[in-house]
Amino acid sequence: MNQEKSISLKRKPSVIISSIMLSLFIFSCGGPSGNSTKIDIEEIGQQLLVLDDNVQKEIAKSPLDARGEEKIVPRTINDDGSLRVVAGHDWTSGFYPGIMWYMYELTGDPEWKGKAVRYTSKLTKEMYNGSNHDVGFRMYCSFGNGLRLIEDEIYVPVLVQSAKTLIARYSETVRSIKSWDFNEEVWQFPVIVDNMMNLELLFWASEETGDPIYRDIAIQHALTTKKNHYRSDYSSVHVVDYDTITGAVRQKNTHQGYADESSWARGQAWGLYGFTMTYRCTKDKQFLEQAEKIAGFLLNHPRLPEDLVPYWDFDAPGIPNEERDVSAAAIIASALYELSTYTENGGELKEKADQILESLGSVYASPAGENYGFILAHSVGNKHGNSEVDVPLNYADYYFLEALVRQERLANNKPVV
Ligand code: GLY
Repeated sequence: MNQEKSISLKRKPSVIISSIMLSLFIFSCGGPSGNSTKIDIEEIGQQLLVLDDNVQKEIAKSPLDARGEEKIVPRTINDDGSLRVVAGHDWTSGFYPGIMWYMYELTGDPEWKGKAVRYTSKLTKEMYNGSNHDVGFRMYCSFGNGLRLIEDEIYVPVLVQSAKTLIARYSETVRSIKSWDFNEEVWQFPVIVDNMMNLELLFWASEETGDPIYRDIAIQHALTTKKNHYRSDYSSVHVVDYDTITGAVRQKNTHQGYADESSWARGQAWGLYGFTMTYRCTKDKQFLEQAEKIAGFLLNHPRLPEDLVPYWDFDAPGIPNEERDVSAAAIIASALYELSTYTENGGELKEKADQILESLGSVYASPAGENYGFILAHSVGNKHGNSEVDVPLNYADYYFLEALVRQERLANNKPVV
Protein backbone atom coordinates (compact mmCIF):
# COMPACT_ATOMS: atom_id res chain seq x y z
CA MET A 1 0.00 0.00 0.00
CA ASN A 2 1.41 3.38 -0.74
CA GLN A 3 0.28 6.74 0.39
CA GLU A 4 -1.00 7.92 -2.97
CA LYS A 5 -3.52 5.12 -3.00
CA SER A 6 -6.64 5.84 -1.01
CA ILE A 7 -7.70 3.23 1.49
CA SER A 8 -10.42 0.97 0.23
CA LEU A 9 -13.57 1.12 2.28
CA LYS A 10 -15.04 -1.98 0.67
CA ARG A 11 -16.11 -4.30 3.41
CA LYS A 12 -16.79 -7.95 3.96
CA PRO A 13 -20.22 -8.68 5.39
CA SER A 14 -18.91 -9.60 8.83
CA VAL A 15 -16.66 -6.65 8.96
CA ILE A 16 -16.46 -3.65 9.74
CA ILE A 17 -17.47 -0.05 10.05
CA SER A 18 -20.64 1.05 8.31
CA SER A 19 -20.64 4.25 6.30
CA ILE A 20 -22.98 5.79 8.83
CA MET A 21 -20.62 5.01 11.66
CA LEU A 22 -17.68 6.33 9.67
CA SER A 23 -19.05 9.79 9.85
CA LEU A 24 -19.12 9.44 13.62
CA PHE A 25 -15.44 8.69 13.66
CA ILE A 26 -14.55 12.15 12.59
CA PHE A 27 -12.58 13.79 15.30
CA SER A 28 -10.81 17.04 15.67
CA CYS A 29 -7.28 16.23 16.63
CA GLY A 30 -4.18 17.81 18.00
CA GLY A 31 -2.61 18.07 21.41
CA PRO A 32 -4.39 19.67 24.32
CA SER A 33 -3.49 22.96 22.64
CA GLY A 34 -5.54 21.61 19.75
CA ASN A 35 -5.80 22.27 16.06
CA SER A 36 -8.68 21.90 13.68
CA THR A 37 -7.45 18.88 11.69
CA LYS A 38 -10.11 16.21 11.31
CA ILE A 39 -9.51 12.50 11.14
CA ASP A 40 -11.69 9.51 10.41
CA ILE A 41 -10.92 5.83 9.92
CA GLU A 42 -9.43 6.57 6.50
CA GLU A 43 -7.27 9.22 8.07
CA ILE A 44 -6.28 6.83 10.82
CA GLY A 45 -5.23 4.52 7.98
CA GLN A 46 -3.21 7.29 6.35
CA GLN A 47 -1.58 8.02 9.69
CA LEU A 48 -0.63 4.35 10.11
CA LEU A 49 0.86 4.29 6.63
CA VAL A 50 3.12 7.14 7.71
CA LEU A 51 4.10 5.03 10.72
CA ASP A 52 4.78 1.98 8.58
CA ASP A 53 6.95 4.02 6.25
CA ASN A 54 8.90 5.43 9.18
CA VAL A 55 9.39 1.94 10.59
CA GLN A 56 10.94 0.75 7.33
CA LYS A 57 13.25 3.80 7.23
CA GLU A 58 14.36 3.24 10.82
CA ILE A 59 15.02 -0.46 10.18
CA ALA A 60 17.02 0.39 7.06
CA LYS A 61 19.17 2.77 9.15
CA SER A 62 19.55 0.47 12.14
CA PRO A 63 18.30 -3.09 11.63
CA LEU A 64 19.35 -4.71 14.91
CA ASP A 65 18.66 -3.95 18.57
CA ALA A 66 21.23 -3.98 21.40
CA ARG A 67 20.90 -7.79 21.68
CA GLY A 68 21.59 -8.19 17.97
CA GLU A 69 17.94 -9.12 17.27
CA GLU A 70 16.11 -7.94 14.17
CA LYS A 71 13.99 -4.82 14.82
CA ILE A 72 10.39 -5.35 13.70
CA VAL A 73 7.72 -3.06 15.18
CA PRO A 74 7.36 0.53 16.40
CA ARG A 75 6.87 0.98 20.14
CA THR A 76 7.19 4.69 20.99
CA ILE A 77 9.27 7.83 20.49
CA ASN A 78 12.60 7.99 22.33
CA ASP A 79 13.70 10.92 24.50
CA ASP A 80 16.00 12.07 21.69
CA GLY A 81 13.00 12.29 19.36
CA SER A 82 13.81 9.19 17.31
CA LEU A 83 11.35 6.40 16.55
CA ARG A 84 11.82 3.36 18.80
CA VAL A 85 11.51 0.18 16.76
CA VAL A 86 11.78 -3.02 18.78
CA ALA A 87 12.45 -6.71 18.21
CA GLY A 88 10.07 -9.61 18.75
CA HIS A 89 11.24 -10.22 22.32
CA ASP A 90 9.95 -6.79 23.44
CA TRP A 91 6.79 -7.10 25.54
CA THR A 92 4.91 -4.80 23.14
CA SER A 93 5.78 -6.59 19.88
CA GLY A 94 2.32 -8.15 19.41
CA PHE A 95 0.47 -4.85 19.37
CA TYR A 96 1.62 -3.62 15.96
CA PRO A 97 0.51 -6.75 14.09
CA GLY A 98 -2.67 -6.45 16.19
CA ILE A 99 -3.14 -2.87 14.97
CA MET A 100 -2.89 -4.14 11.39
CA TRP A 101 -5.47 -6.86 12.15
CA TYR A 102 -7.88 -4.28 13.62
CA MET A 103 -7.40 -2.03 10.59
CA TYR A 104 -8.31 -5.01 8.43
CA GLU A 105 -11.36 -5.62 10.59
CA LEU A 106 -12.35 -1.96 10.45
CA THR A 107 -11.88 -1.48 6.71
CA GLY A 108 -11.95 -4.91 5.05
CA ASP A 109 -8.97 -3.76 3.02
CA PRO A 110 -6.85 -6.80 2.05
CA GLU A 111 -3.72 -4.70 2.10
CA TRP A 112 -4.02 -4.35 5.88
CA LYS A 113 -4.48 -8.10 6.01
CA GLY A 114 -1.28 -8.56 4.02
CA LYS A 115 0.63 -6.36 6.45
CA ALA A 116 -0.95 -8.10 9.43
CA VAL A 117 0.08 -11.52 8.12
CA ARG A 118 3.64 -10.37 7.42
CA TYR A 119 4.19 -8.72 10.82
CA THR A 120 2.52 -11.59 12.65
CA SER A 121 4.74 -14.18 11.01
CA LYS A 122 7.85 -12.31 12.16
CA LEU A 123 6.90 -13.11 15.77
CA THR A 124 6.65 -16.90 15.31
CA LYS A 125 9.70 -17.81 17.36
CA GLU A 126 8.34 -15.87 20.34
CA MET A 127 6.08 -18.86 21.06
CA TYR A 128 9.09 -20.28 22.91
CA ASN A 129 9.97 -17.06 24.73
CA GLY A 130 9.17 -17.83 28.35
CA SER A 131 11.39 -15.15 29.84
CA ASN A 132 8.32 -13.40 31.34
CA HIS A 133 4.50 -13.53 31.31
CA ASP A 134 4.27 -11.28 28.24
CA VAL A 135 4.10 -14.19 25.80
CA GLY A 136 0.33 -13.73 26.07
CA PHE A 137 0.46 -10.11 24.94
CA ARG A 138 2.93 -10.88 22.17
CA MET A 139 1.13 -13.85 20.70
CA TYR A 140 -2.57 -13.40 21.41
CA CYS A 141 -2.70 -9.81 20.10
CA SER A 142 -0.94 -10.92 16.90
CA PHE A 143 -1.64 -14.61 16.14
CA GLY A 144 -4.83 -14.61 18.24
CA ASN A 145 -6.42 -11.80 16.26
CA GLY A 146 -5.15 -13.38 13.06
CA LEU A 147 -6.83 -16.69 13.89
CA ARG A 148 -10.05 -14.92 14.83
CA LEU A 149 -10.19 -13.00 11.55
CA ILE A 150 -8.82 -15.34 8.90
CA GLU A 151 -9.08 -18.74 10.59
CA ASP A 152 -5.67 -19.74 9.30
CA GLU A 153 -5.00 -23.13 10.90
CA ILE A 154 -1.25 -22.60 10.80
CA TYR A 155 -1.70 -20.15 13.68
CA VAL A 156 -3.14 -22.83 15.97
CA PRO A 157 0.06 -24.73 16.90
CA VAL A 158 1.89 -21.44 17.44
CA LEU A 159 -0.75 -20.31 19.92
CA VAL A 160 -0.90 -23.69 21.67
CA GLN A 161 2.88 -23.65 22.10
CA SER A 162 2.62 -20.06 23.43
CA ALA A 163 0.12 -21.23 26.04
CA LYS A 164 2.47 -24.09 27.02
CA THR A 165 5.26 -21.55 27.39
CA LEU A 166 3.08 -19.37 29.63
CA ILE A 167 1.92 -22.15 31.96
CA ALA A 168 5.52 -23.24 32.49
CA ARG A 169 5.70 -20.12 34.71
CA TYR A 170 2.90 -21.34 36.98
CA SER A 171 3.65 -22.40 40.56
CA GLU A 172 1.34 -24.83 42.37
CA THR A 173 2.65 -23.41 45.65
CA VAL A 174 1.91 -19.77 44.85
CA ARG A 175 -1.08 -20.64 42.70
CA SER A 176 -0.10 -17.95 40.19
CA ILE A 177 1.94 -17.42 37.06
CA LYS A 178 5.24 -15.63 37.72
CA SER A 179 5.32 -12.37 35.81
CA TRP A 180 8.96 -11.33 35.89
CA ASP A 181 12.43 -12.80 36.48
CA PHE A 182 14.36 -9.54 37.07
CA ASN A 183 15.03 -7.76 40.37
CA GLU A 184 15.80 -11.13 42.01
CA GLU A 185 17.55 -9.43 44.94
CA VAL A 186 14.16 -7.91 45.88
CA TRP A 187 11.46 -10.31 44.63
CA GLN A 188 11.18 -14.10 44.79
CA PHE A 189 8.01 -14.56 42.76
CA PRO A 190 6.58 -11.25 41.49
CA VAL A 191 3.08 -11.26 40.06
CA ILE A 192 1.78 -8.06 38.45
CA VAL A 193 -1.86 -7.21 37.91
CA ASP A 194 -1.06 -6.83 34.17
CA ASN A 195 -0.69 -10.64 34.10
CA MET A 196 -4.50 -10.95 34.13
CA MET A 197 -4.45 -9.99 30.44
CA ASN A 198 -2.51 -13.07 29.44
CA LEU A 199 -5.11 -15.48 30.73
CA GLU A 200 -7.16 -15.08 27.53
CA LEU A 201 -4.57 -17.14 25.65
CA LEU A 202 -4.97 -19.91 28.25
CA PHE A 203 -8.78 -20.00 28.05
CA TRP A 204 -8.48 -20.21 24.28
CA ALA A 205 -5.92 -23.05 24.53
CA SER A 206 -8.24 -25.24 26.62
CA GLU A 207 -11.10 -24.63 24.19
CA GLU A 208 -8.85 -25.52 21.28
CA THR A 209 -7.11 -28.58 22.69
CA GLY A 210 -9.74 -29.93 25.07
CA ASP A 211 -7.06 -30.04 27.77
CA PRO A 212 -8.37 -28.30 30.92
CA ILE A 213 -4.91 -27.52 32.32
CA TYR A 214 -4.67 -24.08 30.72
CA ARG A 215 -8.11 -23.01 31.90
CA ASP A 216 -7.56 -24.40 35.41
CA ILE A 217 -4.35 -22.41 35.74
CA ALA A 218 -6.01 -19.26 34.38
CA ILE A 219 -8.86 -19.55 36.89
CA GLN A 220 -6.51 -20.19 39.80
CA HIS A 221 -4.31 -17.25 38.80
CA ALA A 222 -7.35 -14.97 38.63
CA LEU A 223 -8.52 -16.12 42.07
CA THR A 224 -5.11 -15.50 43.61
CA THR A 225 -4.92 -12.05 42.00
CA LYS A 226 -8.41 -11.20 43.20
CA LYS A 227 -7.45 -12.22 46.73
CA ASN A 228 -4.05 -10.59 47.06
CA HIS A 229 -3.80 -7.67 44.64
CA TYR A 230 -7.06 -5.93 45.50
CA ARG A 231 -7.68 -3.53 48.34
CA SER A 232 -11.01 -3.01 50.06
CA ASP A 233 -11.86 -0.10 47.70
CA TYR A 234 -11.23 -2.39 44.66
CA SER A 235 -8.06 -0.61 43.63
CA SER A 236 -5.12 -2.88 42.82
CA VAL A 237 -1.50 -2.82 43.86
CA HIS A 238 0.91 -3.33 41.00
CA VAL A 239 3.25 -6.11 42.19
CA VAL A 240 2.60 -8.86 44.75
CA ASP A 241 5.72 -10.82 45.63
CA TYR A 242 5.30 -14.37 46.96
CA ASP A 243 7.50 -16.74 48.92
CA THR A 244 8.37 -19.60 46.59
CA ILE A 245 8.55 -22.16 49.41
CA THR A 246 5.40 -21.30 51.37
CA GLY A 247 3.36 -19.39 48.80
CA ALA A 248 2.81 -16.57 51.34
CA VAL A 249 2.71 -12.93 50.30
CA ARG A 250 6.13 -11.36 51.05
CA GLN A 251 5.49 -7.78 49.98
CA LYS A 252 3.29 -5.52 47.88
CA ASN A 253 5.09 -2.99 45.70
CA THR A 254 4.84 -0.82 42.69
CA HIS A 255 7.20 -0.86 39.75
CA GLN A 256 5.62 1.72 37.46
CA GLY A 257 3.19 3.52 39.77
CA TYR A 258 3.78 6.44 42.11
CA ALA A 259 4.01 4.41 45.34
CA ASP A 260 3.39 0.93 46.74
CA GLU A 261 0.05 2.13 48.18
CA SER A 262 -1.02 4.16 45.14
CA SER A 263 -3.30 3.23 42.25
CA TRP A 264 -1.28 3.14 39.04
CA ALA A 265 -3.76 3.92 36.28
CA ARG A 266 -2.77 1.28 33.74
CA GLY A 267 -2.72 -1.38 36.41
CA GLN A 268 -6.33 -0.55 37.24
CA ALA A 269 -7.13 -0.74 33.52
CA TRP A 270 -5.47 -4.15 33.08
CA GLY A 271 -7.46 -5.47 36.05
CA LEU A 272 -10.77 -4.17 34.72
CA TYR A 273 -10.13 -5.71 31.31
CA GLY A 274 -8.70 -8.93 32.77
CA PHE A 275 -11.59 -9.70 35.12
CA THR A 276 -14.17 -8.78 32.46
CA MET A 277 -12.52 -11.22 30.05
CA THR A 278 -12.22 -13.88 32.79
CA TYR A 279 -15.95 -13.59 33.39
CA ARG A 280 -16.59 -14.02 29.66
CA CYS A 281 -14.47 -17.18 29.62
CA THR A 282 -15.80 -18.73 32.86
CA LYS A 283 -19.27 -17.24 33.43
CA ASP A 284 -18.31 -17.27 37.13
CA LYS A 285 -20.21 -14.39 38.73
CA GLN A 286 -17.44 -13.57 41.22
CA PHE A 287 -15.30 -12.35 38.33
CA LEU A 288 -18.14 -10.22 36.98
CA GLU A 289 -18.65 -8.70 40.40
CA GLN A 290 -14.92 -7.98 40.61
CA ALA A 291 -14.97 -6.22 37.23
CA GLU A 292 -18.03 -4.19 38.22
CA LYS A 293 -16.38 -3.09 41.46
CA ILE A 294 -13.19 -2.11 39.63
CA ALA A 295 -15.26 -0.10 37.14
CA GLY A 296 -16.96 1.58 40.11
CA PHE A 297 -13.60 2.47 41.65
CA LEU A 298 -12.38 3.98 38.38
CA LEU A 299 -15.46 5.82 37.21
CA ASN A 300 -16.37 7.29 40.62
CA HIS A 301 -12.85 8.29 41.52
CA PRO A 302 -12.73 11.94 42.60
CA ARG A 303 -9.47 12.41 40.70
CA LEU A 304 -10.71 10.97 37.40
CA PRO A 305 -10.79 14.03 35.11
CA GLU A 306 -14.01 15.04 33.40
CA ASP A 307 -12.78 13.84 30.01
CA LEU A 308 -12.28 10.37 31.59
CA VAL A 309 -8.61 10.14 30.60
CA PRO A 310 -6.86 9.30 33.89
CA TYR A 311 -3.68 10.76 35.26
CA TRP A 312 -0.87 8.18 35.07
CA ASP A 313 -1.49 7.36 38.74
CA PHE A 314 -4.65 8.23 40.64
CA ASP A 315 -2.45 9.28 43.58
CA ALA A 316 0.25 11.14 41.67
CA PRO A 317 1.22 13.99 43.99
CA GLY A 318 1.07 16.84 41.50
CA ILE A 319 -2.49 16.29 40.24
CA PRO A 320 -3.85 18.27 38.35
CA ASN A 321 -0.39 19.02 36.95
CA GLU A 322 0.48 15.42 36.16
CA GLU A 323 0.56 13.64 32.81
CA ARG A 324 -2.47 11.75 31.62
CA ASP A 325 -2.14 8.16 30.46
CA VAL A 326 -3.99 7.70 27.20
CA SER A 327 -3.05 4.01 27.10
CA ALA A 328 -4.96 3.42 30.35
CA ALA A 329 -7.96 5.29 28.94
CA ALA A 330 -7.97 3.20 25.75
CA ILE A 331 -7.80 -0.09 27.70
CA ILE A 332 -10.60 1.09 30.02
CA ALA A 333 -12.81 2.04 27.04
CA SER A 334 -12.35 -1.33 25.39
CA ALA A 335 -13.04 -3.17 28.66
CA LEU A 336 -16.13 -1.08 29.41
CA TYR A 337 -17.68 -1.94 26.04
CA GLU A 338 -17.42 -5.61 26.92
CA LEU A 339 -18.50 -5.18 30.53
CA SER A 340 -21.51 -3.14 29.40
CA THR A 341 -22.92 -6.27 27.76
CA TYR A 342 -22.89 -8.23 31.04
CA THR A 343 -24.18 -5.73 33.59
CA GLU A 344 -27.43 -4.10 34.61
CA ASN A 345 -25.94 -0.62 34.25
CA GLY A 346 -24.59 -1.49 30.80
CA GLY A 347 -26.02 1.62 29.15
CA GLU A 348 -24.14 3.84 31.55
CA LEU A 349 -20.87 1.95 31.04
CA LYS A 350 -21.22 2.08 27.28
CA GLU A 351 -21.80 5.80 27.48
CA LYS A 352 -18.57 6.18 29.49
CA ALA A 353 -16.67 4.17 26.89
CA ASP A 354 -18.11 6.38 24.13
CA GLN A 355 -17.04 9.46 26.07
CA ILE A 356 -13.50 8.13 26.41
CA LEU A 357 -13.23 7.49 22.68
CA GLU A 358 -14.54 10.95 21.96
CA SER A 359 -11.95 12.46 24.31
CA LEU A 360 -9.14 10.42 22.78
CA GLY A 361 -10.11 11.29 19.25
CA SER A 362 -10.77 14.95 19.88
CA VAL A 363 -7.99 15.98 22.25
CA TYR A 364 -5.30 13.32 22.44
CA ALA A 365 -4.81 12.24 18.81
CA SER A 366 -1.59 13.00 16.97
CA PRO A 367 -1.88 15.76 14.40
CA ALA A 368 -2.01 14.17 10.93
CA GLY A 369 1.42 13.02 9.76
CA GLU A 370 3.07 13.81 13.09
CA ASN A 371 4.44 11.67 15.92
CA TYR A 372 5.91 9.36 13.24
CA GLY A 373 2.36 8.23 12.48
CA PHE A 374 1.25 6.92 15.87
CA ILE A 375 -2.50 7.52 16.22
CA LEU A 376 -2.57 8.80 19.80
CA ALA A 377 -0.18 10.93 21.82
CA HIS A 378 0.07 11.52 25.58
CA SER A 379 0.61 8.10 27.16
CA VAL A 380 2.88 7.23 30.05
CA GLY A 381 4.91 4.00 30.01
CA ASN A 382 6.83 4.23 33.26
CA LYS A 383 7.03 7.59 34.99
CA HIS A 384 8.36 5.91 38.14
CA GLY A 385 11.35 4.79 36.06
CA ASN A 386 11.46 8.12 34.23
CA SER A 387 10.84 6.42 30.92
CA GLU A 388 8.23 6.95 28.18
CA VAL A 389 6.49 9.94 29.77
CA ASP A 390 3.90 11.79 27.65
CA VAL A 391 4.61 9.85 24.46
CA PRO A 392 2.73 7.74 21.94
CA LEU A 393 2.70 4.01 22.76
CA ASN A 394 1.78 1.20 20.39
CA TYR A 395 -0.57 -0.37 22.95
CA ALA A 396 -2.56 2.85 23.32
CA ASP A 397 -3.22 2.70 19.57
CA TYR A 398 -4.00 -1.02 19.74
CA TYR A 399 -6.66 -0.74 22.46
CA PHE A 400 -8.09 2.42 20.85
CA LEU A 401 -8.70 0.50 17.62
CA GLU A 402 -10.02 -2.49 19.57
CA ALA A 403 -12.46 -0.16 21.33
CA LEU A 404 -13.59 1.21 17.95
CA VAL A 405 -14.19 -2.33 16.73
CA ARG A 406 -16.21 -3.11 19.86
CA GLN A 407 -18.22 0.09 19.60
CA GLU A 408 -19.08 -0.82 16.03
CA ARG A 409 -20.05 -4.38 16.90
CA LEU A 410 -22.37 -3.11 19.62
CA ALA A 411 -23.92 -0.64 17.18
CA ASN A 412 -24.67 -3.58 14.88
CA ASN A 413 -26.06 -5.82 17.66
CA LYS A 414 -23.18 -8.26 17.30
CA PRO A 415 -21.39 -9.95 20.19
CA VAL A 416 -18.78 -7.47 21.36
CA VAL A 417 -15.98 -10.07 21.27
N1 GLY B 1 2.52 -4.58 31.08
C1 GLY B 1 3.46 -3.53 31.15
C2 GLY B 1 2.86 -2.20 31.24
O1 GLY B 1 1.66 -2.04 31.30
O2 GLY B 1 3.64 -1.25 31.23
